[in-house]
Amino acid sequence: MIKINWKVIGMLTLAGCLVTGNKALAQQDSIDLKVESLLGKMTLAEKIGQLNQYNGDWEATGPVTKDVGNKINEIKQGRVGAVLNIMGTTHIRTFQDAAMQSRLKIPLLFGQDVIHGYRITFPIPLGEASSWDMKAIEQSARIAATEASASGINWTFAPMVDIARDPRWGRVMEGAGEDPYLGSLIATARVKGFQGNGLGSIDAVMACAKHFAAYGAAIGGRDYNSVDMGLHTLWEIYLPPFKAALDAGVATFMNSFNDLNGIPATGNNYLQRDILKGKWGFKGFVVSDWGSIGEMINHGYVKDNYEAAEVALKAGSDMDMESRSYINNLSKLVADNKVPVSLIDDAAKRILRKKFEMGLFDDPYRFINAKREKTALNTPENIEAARDIARKSIVLLKNEHQLLPLSKDLKTIAVIGPLANAKKELKGFWSLEIDKNENNVSLLEGMQKQAGQTKLIYAQGCNITDNSRVGFADAIAAAQKADVIVMAVGEAPDMTGEAKSKSNIRLPDIQEQLIKEMKATGKPVVVLLMAGRPMIFNWTADNVPAILYTWWLGSQGGNAMADVLYGNYNPSGKLPITFPRSEGQIPIYYNHYNTGRPAQGDNDLYYKSAYIDLPNSPRYAFGYGLSYTTFEYQDDPFYSKIAMKDNQTLAISFVLKNTGKYAGEEVVQLYIRDLVSQPLRPVKELKDFRKILLQPGESRRVTFNINKNMLSFYNDKQELITQPGDFQVMIGSASNDIRLQRTFELVN
Ligand code: BGC
Repeated sequence: MIKINWKVIGMLTLAGCLVTGNKALAQQDSIDLKVESLLGKMTLAEKIGQLNQYNGDWEATGPVTKDVGNKINEIKQGRVGAVLNIMGTTHIRTFQDAAMQSRLKIPLLFGQDVIHGYRITFPIPLGEASSWDMKAIEQSARIAATEASASGINWTFAPMVDIARDPRWGRVMEGAGEDPYLGSLIATARVKGFQGNGLGSIDAVMACAKHFAAYGAAIGGRDYNSVDMGLHTLWEIYLPPFKAALDAGVATFMNSFNDLNGIPATGNNYLQRDILKGKWGFKGFVVSDWGSIGEMINHGYVKDNYEAAEVALKAGSDMDMESRSYINNLSKLVADNKVPVSLIDDAAKRILRKKFEMGLFDDPYRFINAKREKTALNTPENIEAARDIARKSIVLLKNEHQLLPLSKDLKTIAVIGPLANAKKELKGFWSLEIDKNENNVSLLEGMQKQAGQTKLIYAQGCNITDNSRVGFADAIAAAQKADVIVMAVGEAPDMTGEAKSKSNIRLPDIQEQLIKEMKATGKPVVVLLMAGRPMIFNWTADNVPAILYTWWLGSQGGNAMADVLYGNYNPSGKLPITFPRSEGQIPIYYNHYNTGRPAQGDNDLYYKSAYIDLPNSPRYAFGYGLSYTTFEYQDDPFYSKIAMKDNQTLAISFVLKNTGKYAGEEVVQLYIRDLVSQPLRPVKELKDFRKILLQPGESRRVTFNINKNMLSFYNDKQELITQPGDFQVMIGSASNDIRLQRTFELVN
């Protein structure tokens, strides 16, 4: 039996380096030394074992081997480095116990898709992105990590930082929308939230930036599909959030199912070796997506798992999730001189280093503490935080005649619709323990708590998808007794998510019929749309006076929606993705290039850059969202200079005034356009924003500082450059609602 005293090795190195005065370096050196020392004691089979990850016993997203008994034996033999999808400290302990019976007692990593909360479910990531509130997003990830780490998890497969310009793609719900700048800030916030004070803290979990890369650009929005993309778009649009996650210290990356220009991401040298581990210097490890190493056979890229293992490892995939290609083939590949041991060593070292950084060698059970698990979940402060981020995620799309907020004097409100009394349906795809949570709140319950003297009459009206109108009569009867009708409609949790792409993203027809019936009563109608993706709902958008897009808000959704309906919270969300008028407009996004015949409006014949049967514009633009109050962008912009050298900063400021009756927050957005450039630049790009709270009548000067970074872009050699010339600055309330514009020149 080999005994290694990690603490002594660590202390010796630390002492040595402290003499030279660099503590962080000393700690890293000390870990490197421990890793080297351990690696020196490992057999080839044990090293390969570290590269192998198995599903636990939860059938999730792909074909799994069901025999848990064998897995436990394999763990005892040191053939497994990580497990995913086992929940709860008791269960996780049995797996770690098995690892502790292996020759070198190398602890396991326990991974899980903690995507938007653990026991307390937060809004889906696309919903949270609508808050444009980085503190709140970071806090949501922090709480998720606190709960997950108390339940034995030490690694989350999040954040998903894939840019998505296609709402047909089911996984659009899991990301931050279409914009690389907003997406990068959100990637940073989520990584910081998950990893807290850093790996080694008892409530930090390793984050995982996924899916590397360009998974969100699957052709036709069909999940797992090929991606055909120029390098320019890859670098400008799809890579920045990954780079931001890396700069924020993300511990791991996951590669993706898609091929990129004919090469599966899992076997893609350019992505993983040249960019990620080369140019960007990533020191963590890359896990494959579920079975994606073996799936290269289906792609037709390799002929068997033997070849798949060779290609994937050489391309920089360090850990094999569930395909068994590594565990079954790497020894032979080494024996056949196809794979050098140095590559296996490198991958194993990357994984072991993270295990050391997490403190797992000091105490493999540090996250497996049943007592902590009992107290850490569902705390009142965290429930309150979930309510807060939920209301911040709601977007007010329409509010004619200031129908909202609802008056406290209303006698009767009819609460109608298949999602009006839904609880679990608010969870959305990728929710973990919401079903164990006693504190889930439906819209009806949330409203009941705040309704005061107002009587609420509930009728479901119809189901989410079937065509039965049986419940319509009750709904109409309820509506006829009411002063206002509040409707909750939308998608079931399995209508958007992984493998949930749709060609028809319209609000299900039966629900639209119900809305029409409600409107026909002549009563004012408020519609809340709950969904994981931008839906199409043109009739509702044209005919219903008040509309809130609530996404799937999680455990506290009902309270959050009631807060907004009753004006206890003034909505401030802005759309992080463009809403199309029709599937035929997809992909549609704000940061496109101009054509040679740019659209001048919605109806110019030869300038019709879109379709003859649709306006050029989307239904709702990126950055759009209303408030109960109004904001004036006062046109006295202070402009520090009109020409800026590229080592300078240009300040642009103006006065924002709350001109309405309610206190409220405005997300002031700054867009820039490079007017003449080679290659082309988009018609506008978000480069900065501020979320500002103003009391009624209050004014505040808002200043943005424009620097060279905001003007730079990739040339055709993927080098970041700036070009002198004129730039347009646009400041406004949405990408299609620009209130102030100025130009300045960048000079050499
Ligand atoms: C998904 C990943 C996820 C993994 C493990 C895959 O199907 O694409 O995002 O982390 O399953 O659940």
